[in-house]
Amino acid sequence: MKAVVYTKYGPPDVLQLKDVEKPVPDENEILIKIYASTVTAVDCTFRKGFPLVGRLFTGLTGPKYTIPGTEFAGEVIETGSNEKLFKAGDRVFGTTDGHSAHTEYLCYSSDKLTITLMPDNLSYDEAAGCDGYLTALPFLRDSGNIRNGFHVLIYGASGSVGSSAVQLAKYYGAKVTGVCSTSNLELVKSIGADSVLDYTKEDFPKKRELYDIIFDTVGKISFGRCKRSLKENGIFLETSLTPTIFPQMLWTSISSRKKARIAFTGLLPVNKRTENLVFIKKLMEREKIKPVIDRKYPIKQITEAHEYVETGHKKGNVIITINQNDQTG
Ligand SMILES: NC(=O)c1ccc[n+]([C@@H]2O[C@H](COP(=O)([O-])OP(=O)(O)OC[C@H]3O[C@@H](n4cnc5c(N)ncnc54)[C@H](OP(=O)(O)O)[C@@H]3O)[C@@H](O)[C@H]2O)c1
Repeated sequence: MKAVVYTKYGPPDVLQLKDVEKPVPDENEILIKIYASTVTAVDCTFRKGFPLVGRLFTGLTGPKYTIPGTEFAGEVIETGSNEKLFKAGDRVFGTTDGHSAHTEYLCYSSDKLTITLMPDNLSYDEAAGCDGYLTALPFLRDSGNIRNGFHVLIYGASGSVGSSAVQLAKYYGAKVTGVCSTSNLELVKSIGADSVLDYTKEDFPKKRELYDIIFDTVGKISFGRCKRSLKENGIFLETSLTPTIFPQMLWTSISSRKKARIAFTGLLPVNKRTENLVFIKKLMEREKIKPVIDRKYPIKQITEAHEYVETGHKKGNVIITINQNDQTG
């Protein structure tokens, strides 16, 4: 079978499409024929080996998992004798723990995957873009304690986490302000934002508006700059390991009613992530949320896909198509 392989950290061209042996599931594993995956900002971090902190998960001196890719949507084609949850023919979607999804066949123990049955109303390409929701949900619901009527600002509202956060915040009944660049204003409005601010033209902290939650989904703004725009008891949420976020989190936990928080949603226990995925799936079925797709690349163009994602300006999700129209060769 074909799989993307990398044996050293570096630029997108360290990724190569190679023939590797098709895996055979043992009694605890399932074999999934993958139809769609994505390239995420985190996939680029893992491929580069930079920032160095990513190497705590991927290997200090070189990648310990040679097949990259996290998100997947596909069909179970074989199961081991101990598998109780899934059967051949099931359409499934979810994430691995950060590797192995850029392949034609994924062989894994189902209790180590964040996985559930796909919503009937989504295509494989659409379902593959689920990690933005898996990230935004714990931030908004668990760290931000989001409530009906909250005023929430989503910074970086056009990215994968950002576009998911806008939709989830609307689902929870919040009034949502999305911040993005000029070319994404219409997109962010179309997914439900009540108002949009163009970060190339206006500096939101200079406005008088106050928010219950400011969610920086892209690591481009600091708690220090946002503090005056938070309501009393408001919270600043950060996805990225910026230089100031840990000291601010520590400091605000003891000294301030306005809080700063970072979380690492990929480190949640798999059963908790799967519970969240099931919740997300139900919202997809009720058409409350729908992944935004920017563009698609066949798996043989994985290098081009990484180059594009690395610009930092993708809109929602960049899909990798696999096993579709024999285009992997
Ligand atoms: N902590 C966690 O658990 C966790 C989990 C997943 C991801 N992450 C991190 O979250 C971050 C975002 O991930 P993602 O997948 O959503 O990224 P992404 O989709 O690649 O983000 C791209 C978006 O960022 C926007 N953007 C770029 N520069 C901006 C700026 N200066 N101000 C406002 N928006 C800007 C772009 O909009 P424009 O084109 O309009 O500029 C684009 O739509 C990454 O750093 C990732 O590592 C953290």
